[in-house]
Amino acid sequence: MAPDVFAPARLGPVELRNRTVKAATFEGRTPDGQVTDALIDYHLAVAQGGVGLTTVAYLAVAPEGRTHREQVVVGAATEKGLSRLAEAIHQTGAKIAGQVGHAGPVANGRSNGVHALSASRMPSPLSMQMVRAASEADLARITAAYVATARTLVRAGFDVLELHMAHSYLISSFLAPGLNRRKDRWGGPLEGRARLARQVARAVKEEVGDEVAVTAKVSVSDGFRGGVTTDESLDFTAVLEADGHLDALQLSGGSSLMNPMYLFRGETPVREFAAAMPLPVRVGMRTPVGRKFLKEYDFHEAYFLDKALRFRERLSMPLMLLGGINRRDTMEQAMVHGFEFVAMGRALLREPSLVNELIAGREADGVCIHCNRCMPTIYSGTRCVVLDPA
Ligand SMILES: Cc1cc2nc3c(=O)[nH]c(=O)nc-3n(C[C@H](O)[C@H](O)[C@H](O)COP(=O)(O)O)c2cc1C
Repeated sequence: MAPDVFAPARLGPVELRNRTVKAATFEGRTPDGQVTDALIDYHLAVAQGGVGLTTVAYLAVAPEGRTHREQVVVGAATEKGLSRLAEAIHQTGAKIAGQVGHAGPVANGRSNGVHALSASRMPSPLSMQMVRAASEADLARITAAYVATARTLVRAGFDVLELHMAHSYLISSFLAPGLNRRKDRWGGPLEGRARLARQVARAVKEEVGDEVAVTAKVSVSDGFRGGVTTDESLDFTAVLEADGHLDALQLSGGSSLMNPMYLFRGETPVREFAAAMPLPVRVGMRTPVGRKFLKEYDFHEAYFLDKALRFRERLSMPLMLLGGINRRDTMEQAMVHGFEFVAMGRALLREPSLVNELIAGREADGVCIHCNRCMPTIYSGTRCVVLDPA
């Protein structure tokens, strides 16, 4: 029989009160790069609303790894606030994950005051600067920074570390042949392009052992020519599974750099997005190239399911289904299909207490309309604009 999505479950060494996960949605509540009461309240809402695990979005391992300067860099200067956040969440009975990452080419070097870096040199549409190719020394430093970040988050009381390996962030930029044109051991065939992902997963696991769970957010397809295809991602995740350093994979897709709407589906809020962007990007988005960047994809419930099922077939490690989950029957079907967890972003922005509502039997469906107008609010305090138009 399929497990009950609302009953307790283990994620590696961690016991969760149920199998629902709040996926990382950048909160926009850290204007000085520090945990704020507003950030804690944001996570308290979903934790009090019943999720098993809430994920703090984008915790950067290094200053140049922030997407922009308002993000938290994990370290001595931010540890106290992170502990306060973890403690508040634990009081609700939920567990807390930190999404650990380096934004690579998705970083805005101008905002950060330090150049972005990627697998290969490329122009940045975000900063209008060149993104430089990471050197051997950068990669050694960044791997060590993942380890230091992992240690700090464990000390701060986090239960789960989610390594960001999707969306064209640094590790994902190495995986994508179109973004990684390197001729050295970090490029070429999948073995080279996956080296950074594997090295980081191994180093983090060796540091934390079974003190916390370690997961990764991976792509079922990057959704652009030159990105990682489903076939290649199947091979990549099989290697991650064989390495044995991860407790679960969260199955995402798309690219924040090349094709963001592949991640979300549904309406494309071009006007709202353009208004939230710095001036050069705003102008660029009104051009045909800019419009091509924000493609339209029809929304349907659990839109990554077809691809995710191929991963379920190939892998035996625990998987989290993500992407357009709003309904109780979808969650139950995910269990029937053999996924161990369901992760949700927008449905929980719309209704932080959705899980408790479903448990109480008051609702069967979430009410998110996938208008995606929450996306541009990441620059001003992430929220559902239907729920909170202010
Ligand atoms: C406002 C917003 C911010 C997001 N920020 C992040 C992020 O910081 N890191 C990440 O990996 N994904 C981020 N995502 C993507 C979500 O984690 C998730 O992959 C996507 O929304 C699809 O899931 P859903 O259909 O349940 O919303 C964000 C999504 C939204 C709507």
